[in-house]
Parts: sequence; structure tokens; C-alpha cells
Amino acid sequence: MSIDANQRQDRSSIGSWLFRGALAIGLVSVLATVFNNRFQAICPSGLGNYRPGNESGVCRQAPKLSPKNTEVEQFVRKRVESPQYRREIINKLSGIIKIPSESYDDIGIIGQDTRWDVFFEIEDYIKANYPVVFQTVELDHANTHGLILTWKGSIPASEAKPILMLAHQDVVPVLADNVKDWTHPPYEGHYDGEIIWGRGATDDKGYLISIIESVDLLIKSGFKPKRTIVLAFGCDEEISGENCARPISNLLHERYGDDGIYLIMDEGSMGIQKEFDQSFAMVSVAEKGYLDVGINLTSSGGHASNPPDHNVIGILSEIVVELENRPFPGQVTSKNPMFGFLECAAAHAPESSFPTAIRNKLNKVSQGDNKAQKELAQILDNMRYYFKTSQSVGKINGGIKINAIPETASTLINLRLAVETSVSQVEEHYESLIRPIAEKHNMVFEGFHSQCGSAEKRKICLYGVDALEPAPVSPVDAESFRVLSGTIKSVLKPLDQDTELIVTPYLMPANTDTKFFWTLTKNIYRFTPINLVDNLNRAHTTDEFIRADEFVREPLFLASLILNADDVVGQ
Ligand SMILES: *[C@@H]1O[C@H](CO)[C@@H](O)[C@H](O)[C@H]1NC(C)=O
Ligand SMILES: *[C@@H]1O[C@H](CO)[C@@H](O)[C@H](O)[C@H]1NC(C)=O
Repeated sequence: MSIDANQRQDRSSIGSWLFRGALAIGLVSVLATVFNNRFQAICPSGLGNYRPGNESGVCRQAPKLSPKNTEVEQFVRKRVESPQYRREIINKLSGIIKIPSESYDDIGIIGQDTRWDVFFEIEDYIKANYPVVFQTVELDHANTHGLILTWKGSIPASEAKPILMLAHQDVVPVLADNVKDWTHPPYEGHYDGEIIWGRGATDDKGYLISIIESVDLLIKSGFKPKRTIVLAFGCDEEISGENCARPISNLLHERYGDDGIYLIMDEGSMGIQKEFDQSFAMVSVAEKGYLDVGINLTSSGGHASNPPDHNVIGILSEIVVELENRPFPGQVTSKNPMFGFLECAAAHAPESSFPTAIRNKLNKVSQGDNKAQKELAQILDNMRYYFKTSQSVGKINGGIKINAIPETASTLINLRLAVETSVSQVEEHYESLIRPIAEKHNMVFEGFHSQCGSAEKRKICLYGVDALEPAPVSPVDAESFRVLSGTIKSVLKPLDQDTELIVTPYLMPANTDTKFFWTLTKNIYRFTPINLVDNLNRAHTTDEFIRADEFVREPLFLASLILNADDVVGQ
């Protein structure tokens, strides 16, 4: 998954996965308060929806779903359990890790910058390792390195929408200085009998190999799909997605049209995890939005011996302080998939493990009670960025000479948009805070979309970069979600001694290639079918790894998903 350049550089200290740690810390403090309140809590109406044991309550679980074609399913299962398969697929992952397909923020265009050429090696490698797949599928190239493999179903795509599985071939670069910190060199693909080490093991070459392996297994089983199966492998997920993800999406859109895809599977950020003493399969059904805000101030300069009370540096400072003092409000609404997760936890975690303070709020939150929505965000403050727009001032520039009054000052602020908001709302919020400061200092104010074009000398202008709306929330009542859930429940196991693996919606705090695919389907699910707890802290940093036992079973899950999606054709 892609975080972004700024965050990537100090990912070991921050890491996008701070959210997980925050969740844990948050819950400890929440629990402390909760136990005090426990016995005083008056039972609010509707609480029964949010207690374990209500079969007709919230977060109803889909029944287990097994493929109807038991011969094919047995073939795949037997293969996946054989030592030979295990050896082979581990080798395949090791081998692809050895190809350092790094994507760089400053890379040029494909065909000109030779750093892209490593992706030819990836393509050759995949072809050499999956000859049967490439005899069966049609291969398209989107902008040279975007690979689209189409396994045509017997029913036209217009009647049975294709299933689309995404993965990316590129990895986050390893800085030369950091190579020595790796237990095993990042591009060795070392397998120690338990773990496969290396850059890309989790993000995202394990997933890529699993996807193509699942198709390989199905072809070899003799399976003939009714529904077309499309695999698409990007080359720049970790940077912009403009070089491969967008061209792939364009090509698929031309071919299948709006809403022409049944479901999209892509890497997830959570996988299977334990929270509130319960195992969850966390399917990310949305992503936060994105915006970098630039603020530029200009004024006339002069000699430092005759300064104005406030020059552009002072005024910019005032703006930054104002923005930080008026952060975006936090609110838990039922639109946020994290609310769905809280519902699932309330309904399925052991009753004593789920904080009463949270439980008591859920009913009112679900009814749109504004006060309850804000209070719940307060209770969950330690994981607040799941529930609100974040803003982080990342760069500031101003002044060149100590004895000259600066003529320009500028800043760049990184924002991650909550699912309930939009780029224009965020822009309005900023304009409403900054316009009065401009007026106070007698400066012309140019809001977003003004292009900072006026010839005024004294002005403050705002502009946005890389705007991305929050992803549409994929429905959890769609047939495709039932198929995915049923597959999860029949193939994947809960952690520890838990009796059930609960499928829950979740929110992806980072962005994936799916940001280019919104028009192709409403059903976009980001889910990696393994326990990602430890792996998460390592994706993008040193010692990225994947556990062999879990990795080798991913293709069984993906093959079952394809079979189950095929079974519902025509239903
Ligand atoms: C169980 O959940 C349903 C649906 O949310 C609700 O109507 C019902 O009142 C709940 N049952 C109890 C005992 O609270
Ligand atoms: C804002 O200021 C930065 C830094 O001086 C500059 O690179 C950028 O071009 C300016 N942007 C606009 C829209 O004026």
C-alpha cells in the first residue's frame, strides 16, 4: 500500500501503523474508565442490538460458503497441502523478491527513464514461472509495465461481470544506508524455514504471487470459469499510480464500462487480527481522502531597519497557529466503516471485553445523534484519525537574508480526509480561517482555485495539490460482500482459541491503486488473507517479511473466492 513520500522517510518512527498501537493504548484507557461506569450504566434503549447473542442484530455474519464444484476445490486443497507445492511457491516468492523493482518519487516517464526497465525482468519472471497461466490468459500491457491478464469466462462480461484482482509489482526503495540493518539482505528472498524475508514480501509481492498462483491452480484443476477473471498488476502503487494504475483502469473501463466489474480485491492493511479478545477479518471498504494544501504569502520587502509590525513570516505563523488551534472536528458517524467495526465488536466480542462506554453510544450514533457521535469520537480519541481529518504542516519557507524584510513565505500542509468530508469542505474550512487573517493585515485573499493569478503585491493565496476525495464506501450488503465473507468464513481460521472469525468492515488509512477504479464497481474490498499484526510494522521499513505457513495458504483463499463468485453467476 502506498503511504506517501513524506511519511515514508520516517516510517520507522511514525509508520502508518501507529493507528494500531493507538488502538491498543486507547482501549486500555477506555477500559479503565469503563469499569468505573459499568455498574452505574443505565441500559439505554436499543442496547440489545449491540450485545453478543442477538442473532438478528447488527453485523450479521454471512454463512460459510464452499464451492459447489467439490472436485476442483479438492484438487486445489490437496495441492496446497503438498510439500512440493509449498517448496515451489516459496521459491517463486523468493525469486521475485530478488528483482529489486523499486519505484522512485523522482522517476521519469516509462520508455525514457531506464530505472523502469527492471519491470521487464518482473514480467519475464512471472511468465517463466507460470507458463500454463500465460497459455490460457490474454495478456495486455497498459503503458508497457501495467500487466492485465484476462481469463475469459464462458459467459460474456456483459452478462456476468468479471472479478478483478489487483496487486502491484513495485516496492518501496531500500536506502543504501539501511541495508546493513536488515537481518537478511532485502533482495535475497531468504527463507529460513519459517519466514520469507525481503522487500516486498508482504507489500505486495506475496499477494501478487498468491493471485497468479490461485489462477494457476484453477487452470490445472480443469476448472472452466463462467465469469471472466481479470488480474492486473501495477508498477507504481508506491508512488503516484499514474504510470500503470491509471492506464490499467482506463483500459479496463474501455472494455467493461461503468460498474462493469463484479468486485475488486486488493491488498488490505489489517488482514486477520485480534481486538477486544476476538478474531476479526478486517475488510477495508473505504480509504481516507488526501490533499496537500499550499499557502503562499507575498508582500513588498524593504530594509530590516524599517520593518512593518508583521511581515509575511509573522502572518504565516499566525495562520499556522490558527489552523492548529482549530483542528477538524472528530465525529463517529454510521457512514464510517469503523462504526461498522465497533458494531461488529459489540455484537461478537466477549461482552466483558468490549467497553460499556462505547457500547452505550452505538445506538444513538446509528440514529444520527450528533452529540453522541462527537462523544464517541472523544472516547476513541487515541485512534482519532480514523474519525477525523488529519492535518500536518510539513514544510515551511520564508526569508533569504537576515537584514531584508522577506517578500514571500509559504507552507505545505498534508491532510488525510475523513470519509464523511470532501475536498471542497476542507477547502472551505481553510478559507474561512485564513480569510479573516488576510483582511486583518490588509492583504488580498485568493482562495483555492484562484490560481494565485492576481498581480496584487500583498496577498495570501491558497492552492491544493494531489487532491483525492475519500473513497466511496463499498456496500456490505452486496452479494459480492456476502460471497467474500462466506469465503473468509469457510477458508480462514480465527486466531488462538477463538471459535469464530468475525468478518468486519474497516477503514484503510492509506491509499491503494483502487483509487483509480471507483467507476468500475462499487464493490472494492482491500483484504489480505493473513494475520498482518507483525508484518504491518515492517512493510516499508527494514526486515519486511511474511510467514510461510500463512503465505502458502493465500492461493487457496483466492481460488475459493473465484469459485464462489462463479457459483453465483445467474443467481
Ligand atoms: C436484536 O436486534 C434487532 C435488530 O437490530 C432488534 O430489533 C432487537 O430489538 C434486538 N433484540 C434485543 C433482545 O434487543
Ligand atoms: C508557492 O510558493 C512556492 C515556494 O516559493 C512556489 O514554489 C510555488 O510555485 C508557489 N505556488 C503558487 C501557486 O504560487
